[in-house]
Amino acid sequence: MNLLVVVATAVWLMLPAYIPNNAAVLAGGGRPIDGGRTLGDRRLLGDGKTYRGTAVGTAAGALVALVLNQLNTTAGNLLGAALPTFPTLVLVALPLGAMLGDISASFLKRRTGRERGAPFPGVDQLDFVVVALLLAFLAAPDWFLDSFTLPVLVVILVLTPLLHVLTNGIAYVIGVKDEPW
Ligand code: CTP
Ligand code: MG
Repeated sequence: MNLLVVVATAVWLMLPAYIPNNAAVLAGGGRPIDGGRTLGDRRLLGDGKTYRGTAVGTAAGALVALVLNQLNTTAGNLLGAALPTFPTLVLVALPLGAMLGDISASFLKRRTGRERGAPFPGVDQLDFVVVALLLAFLAAPDWFLDSFTLPVLVVILVLTPLLHVLTNGIAYVIGVKDEPW
C-alpha cells in the first residue's frame, strides 16, 4: 500500500472523529454536563463541557460519516484505491467516542489541578482519538480490524496531533477559541 493511500484512508476514517470537537467549539454554551457539581474543591468537568456542544459535535461527526459513505465510490475512484464504508453503529461511535474522550480529559484535568482552558500537552491532542478508536472497535470489531490496519493507525497517531495543533491555532487566530490548544 502506498503512503498516499494510507494517509488518505487514515484521514477518511478519522474525519467523523475530527469534526466533533470543532463543531462543539462553535456550538458550545448552555448547561454544563456536570451541572456545576464539584468533586473535592474542583469542578467535576467544568463549564467547557456542555450538553449542547456534545450533542451538536456528535451529530456533526455522524453527518460527516454519512456524507463520506455517499462519496465513497467517487473518492475511491479518484484515489485509485477502495476506501472504507462506515457501518451504521460506527457512524455514531466515532464522533461520540471523540466527545467522550475530550470529556474524560477534562475530568482528568480538573483532578490534576488544571483550570478550564489550561493546556495538557499530549492529552489534549490524543484524548479524543483513543476513545473514538475504542468505541469504533466495540461497535464493529471485524470492520475495525479490516479498516484500521497497523500503517493506518501509525499515520493517525502521527497526523492527529499535527492537525489538532493546526486547527486549534486557526480557531484561535480567527477568534472562535479562547486558547490555541
Ligand atoms: N465545548 C462544549 N462541549 C463539549 C466540548 C467543548 O460546549 N463537550 C465548547 C465549550 O464552549 C468549550 C469550547 O468548546 O469552552 C472549547 O473546548 P475545549 O478546549 O475542549 O474546552 P475548554 O473550555 O478548554 O475546557 P477544558 O479545560 O475542560 O478542556
Ligand atoms: Mg481547551
